[in-house]
Order: sequence, then structure tokens, then C-alpha cells
Amino acid sequence: MTLLYHGLEQRGRVWREIVAARVPQMPFLHWGHDAVDPEAVRYIAAWNAPPEFIAQFPNLEILFSVGAGIDQLPIEALPPQVRVVRMVEQGIITGMAEYVAMACLALHRDLPFFISEQRAGRWTYRHTRLASESRIGVMGLGELGRAALDVLGPLGFPLSGWSRTAREIAGVACFAGKDQLDAFLMQADILVCLLPLTVETRGILCRETFAKMPVGSAVINAGRGGHLVADDLIEALDQGQLRAAMLDVTSPEPLPEGHAFYRHPAILLTPHVAAETRHETAGEVLADNLQRLLAGAPLVGEVDRTRGY
Ligand code: NDP
Ligand code: OXD
Repeated sequence: MTLLYHGLEQRGRVWREIVAARVPQMPFLHWGHDAVDPEAVRYIAAWNAPPEFIAQFPNLEILFSVGAGIDQLPIEALPPQVRVVRMVEQGIITGMAEYVAMACLALHRDLPFFISEQRAGRWTYRHTRLASESRIGVMGLGELGRAALDVLGPLGFPLSGWSRTAREIAGVACFAGKDQLDAFLMQADILVCLLPLTVETRGILCRETFAKMPVGSAVINAGRGGHLVADDLIEALDQGQLRAAMLDVTSPEPLPEGHAFYRHPAILLTPHVAAETRHETAGEVLADNLQRLLAGAPLVGEVDRTRGY
């Protein structure tokens, strides 16, 4: 019974201490720092590891993602009995809520336009609206989507959300499933993607989606780069179907030098920093889950591998 951590050195140091204090019976090894007997490894915690790395451990039982998402891990290559657990921790949740609030306000108040005018040395007036006039639609009503809605509500934005199964959230018009997607999109002046990347959601931010949104609406992608069809976004912006976009995630990452997103006047870009796993809070969540594991209790954040999230 050994937990192997593969990732950032500083996080490894913090997690080693937390696991030693909270779950002393669990040996904690840090890849690259400790000698590892592959046969002994039952659990791996990693953000991103290639399939050949994972394949070295014949007795692997659980793969813990260091992040909220799991698509960056080689899930397809895992034997079917290996369980996958994602990170549900307050640092990521709070970080994402902050980011979405910033992005929604930035697009609502036309920041890309004003930045572009500033860079051109122009003092250009454009009429501004109040939050009550910008309807925000959040795709994904999980941990992050709900936290984002919580911070947007008090700012005065009319809110809606879309999920796979029907949800009820006070103050939010909830839509669910493919049947209600069009109705959801038609009333979203700012669309925020906080979906997991799955077979069903890959490429969901595409020409067809943008065409259903109100003319002059805006898009925020803080899910995964694979949700967005890059050429369709550029086309929608250049044709005026969309007014602006803010992207935290791209495909690939890092975005190659010279990519159109870097210089497009209607795009604000951040390098996958919307929400970061915080060493301390995430270490405590990992330790909680290890205690649950040893007690035979359900794990927080266990992924349904057939569903893909
Ligand atoms: P959750 O698993 O808690 O929530 C996922 C939500 O997406 C659920 O509401 C789910 O519906 C919905 N969903 C999934 N598939 C579909 C579908 N086919 N149609 C409609 N809705 C769907 O995930 P989190 O909120 O914790 O995280 C979401 C994603 O955010 C992560 O997977 C990751 O990709 C991204 N992320 C990005 C970060 C960044 O820094 N940019 C940081 C952290 C995460 P239902 O409620 O019915 O299950
Ligand atoms: C995550 C991320 O999934 O940072 O946690 O993207």
C-alpha cells in the first residue's frame, strides 16, 4: 500500500508532510526523489503523466488527479478496474469564482474594445450597460459552475445554467440536456464554459453554438481548450456574431507563437491560470480521501469512468 506522487516539487513537500501527519500508515513516495518499488504502488497522485509512466505500476488501484479535471491524464489507457478521483478543493473553487467574475465584468463592460482603443491611442466613447442588462449563461453546474453563479448573482446579472441532468438552483434559470441547449443559448449574452472535456462536450463552442446566441454576445472558456473550435471563434468574432471572448484554456497549451488568439483585438487570453490547485487545501483533501479509503468510505470526487467526468 503506497501512494506515489508525480508532480511539482514544492507541492510534493507539502503533501508529504500532510499525509505523514494525517495518514501515517500510508507510505508517500515522490517520483524522482524516492526509490520506488513499482509493485508496491497502489495509488498515484498526478496532474499529468504519460501512459508509459502509469503502465509501470501493475497493482495500481486509484489514480488521483491533482486538478479538478481528469482529461489531461491517460484515462483511456487505464485498466477498467482502476478508479479515478478528481480534486474537489476550495482553492480551485474560489479561484475559478474570482476568474469568472473578472471575465464576466470585463466582457460586460467591453474591456477588449477599450484596451484596443487605448493601444491605438484613441479616446473612444461606447455606451455601457448595467449588469441587469447582460444575461449570463453558465455551461456546467458542477462545483465550479455553481461557485461562479454564486459570485455573479450579487452583481446583478440575470443568470442561467446548463447541465447534463436537471438541476435546481435558486435565482438561476436551469436548462438541461441537448433538448434544452438551444433555448439556453438563445438567451445567453455572455456564455461561460465550465464543462469537463468529454466525448460529448468536445468542440461544443463552435459555429452552430455561436449562431444560436444573440448577435453581439460574448464567450468565456475556462473549461478546456478542446471545448472550443478556434477557427469558428475567429470567424464569429470577425463577422460580429460574437463581440468578444476571454479564454483561459487553449488547445494546445502553451498556445504556439503567432497564433491568432494572441493578437485578436476582441480576445483576452490568460495562460490556464483561472484556478490553481492550492498545495495546502488540496493536501488536506487528499488526506481526507486517503482516510476515507482506509475506512472503506466513498471518495470525494470519484469519477464515473463511463460518463467521463
Ligand atoms: P463537475 O464534475 O463538478 O461538474 C461538471 C458539470 O458539467 C456538471 O454540472 C455536469 O452535469 C456538466 N456536464 C457534463 N457533461 C455534460 C454534458 N454532456 N452536457 C451538459 N452538461 C454536462 O466539474 P467542475 O465544476 O469541478 O469542473 C469543471 C471543469 O472545469 C473541469 O473538468 C476542468 O476541465 C475545468 N477546470 C478548469 C480550470 C482552469 O484553471 N481553467 C481549473 C479547474 C477546472 P450534471 O450536473 O448533470 O452532472
Ligand atoms: C484543473 C485545472 O483541472 O487546473 O484543476 O485545469
